[in-house]
Amino acid sequence: MPLKPNRNVVRMPKIHFRNNDRKIEVDEGTSILEAALDHDIDIDNDCGANGVCGTCQVHIEEGHENLSAMTDEERELLEMTDSIPNKSRLACQARVVGNITLTIPE
Ligand code: FES
Repeated sequence: MPLKPNRNVVRMPKIHFRNNDRKIEVDEGTSILEAALDHDIDIDNDCGANGVCGTCQVHIEEGHENLSAMTDEERELLEMTDSIPNKSRLACQARVVGNITLTIPE
């Protein structure tokens, strides 16, 4: 008999912040910025999480595949800033669906 997925399992992805070696658990679908601020981890967010300033940029070290897909708007904004291709994401736009490790640029 095939196994059925357990729909009652609550997923709590983990975010590892390399800067201070903090690991936090978050509800699936939470943005990196919301998760950080909820745990008193400071990430600049000059536009108030509206995805237009680029100050919330973080560098994903592991788990790119565990983030929501990048929108064209996010990609265009990152291309206009000091971003690192295939590493930078906007913390206010990227939503966590699995474990990730990141660095907040100094
Ligand atoms: S807070 Fe402005 S782009 Fe994320």
